[in-house]
Amino acid sequence: MQTNKTSKTSKTNKANKTNKTSKTNMTNETKLWGGRFSEKTAASVEAFTASIHYDRRLYRQDIAGSQAHAKMLVRQGLISVEEGEQIRQGLAAIEQEIEQGVFAFKPELEDIHMNIEKALVDRIGPAGAKLHTARSRNDQINLDLRLYLREASEVLAGLLDGVRTSFVSLARRYLGAVMPGYTHMQRAQPVLISHHMLAYYEMFGRDRERLSDCAKRINVLPLGAAALAGTGLPIDREFVAAELGFPKVTANSMDTVGDRDFAVEFVAACTLIQLHLSRLSEELVLWSSSEFRFVELADSFCTGSSIMPQKKNPDIPELIRGKSGRVVGNLMSLLTMLKGLPLTYNRDLQEDKEPVFDTMDTVAQGLAITAELLAHMKFNTARLEEATKTGYMTATDLADYLVVKNVPFRQAHAIVGQTVAYCVKKKKELIELSLEELRQFSPVIEDDVFAVLTVKGSVDSRRSTGGTSMVRVKEALAKAERELGI
Ligand code: ARG
Repeated sequence: MQTNKTSKTSKTNKANKTNKTSKTNMTNETKLWGGRFSEKTAASVEAFTASIHYDRRLYRQDIAGSQAHAKMLVRQGLISVEEGEQIRQGLAAIEQEIEQGVFAFKPELEDIHMNIEKALVDRIGPAGAKLHTARSRNDQINLDLRLYLREASEVLAGLLDGVRTSFVSLARRYLGAVMPGYTHMQRAQPVLISHHMLAYYEMFGRDRERLSDCAKRINVLPLGAAALAGTGLPIDREFVAAELGFPKVTANSMDTVGDRDFAVEFVAACTLIQLHLSRLSEELVLWSSSEFRFVELADSFCTGSSIMPQKKNPDIPELIRGKSGRVVGNLMSLLTMLKGLPLTYNRDLQEDKEPVFDTMDTVAQGLAITAELLAHMKFNTARLEEATKTGYMTATDLADYLVVKNVPFRQAHAIVGQTVAYCVKKKKELIELSLEELRQFSPVIEDDVFAVLTVKGSVDSRRSTGGTSMVRVKEALAKAERELGI
């Protein structure tokens, strides 16, 4: 999976320089669809319709699809064994040229399909001209995109596991340490740092599941739908499916060539990943500020200010948060592009690729750098523990204590509310009150109350399934480690 745009650009520049046969004033006879045209395509039209500058990224998928298709054509007697062999070798040579950066991509040939097919015809002659038998670019591009997304989903699943591993390592390293848990960005209840880390483990686990669910719909062979109605030639779609590792073939040719639902699903799944990365980033920006000082990001993962020498800025999480805009935008582009399309293929569909590629690049990069950033991050445990001691964070524990002593919860809530108001007035924390002070608010309060008012007591009492107590968190951690095989 290529995600590096710069290296691809430099490869093309090199390709353009080394290519000797590239002509810019090509006539329509040299275009593969030129037969019905008597005028040369306007240069502005060529520039406007070309997609080669981004869809060349699909060269491997396009060639793999063509190889399987040609093999099927031979088996079906639609081309000879020799022609099949010429095609096989020709395509392999072209793939090598592209990989070496010496293939000349031509914008006047519009897209990756035409660029490869034309190069094949130039290279092997008439056999090359038979490759497109029983195929259209409409089913071809659908195939290329599915092959690309199938691989992309696997790459992302690996990167998601990388991030999940970082969270599990942090959970393991800081097991037992406490921090404030928040609602409304106000201190709410003390929790284990590990519990907070495993929350993210779960979020990114759902992302992984979503991707593999979406992969089921990506993983269907579209080839054979041809332009829109299927073909009258005796093809074997199941053979091509097996060759390319698709467990099934699409059911309706018209639906097939107009379908980009799988791309929308992929980008939607990626958007949630990006949002999760962004929410995490927001916490890291806050936590690393002098106001919080909850974490220390490694120097090697921060940047400085050009004017303020003292600054150490959390640019990585900020950029990830910022990049959410483009990913959400990509999803909107795809949805909007599709919304008014009549069946079946329409050229609008060519606009699917840039949002898909950009989403993949952005999310893959974000996941990789986040895994690294987390691996180098340190929690300031002393400061975090200190923070759990203020803000009356064990107030709910006091209410639960009263409930156990048979006080109805609503009444208990009111009693604790009054107790906290008293604390605010006296500038004391709950744990600092004497038994007499506490008993002013309820006579059922006894000596054993102090055990529940401590941070440790509070955390350890939360033994409900999915709660923050040490027993539950240890179980969750063991489960996560089992799932990741670490
Ligand atoms: N470049 C086109 C796309 O991305 C390929 C299919 C073009 N088909 C056509 N009949 N013009 O959608």
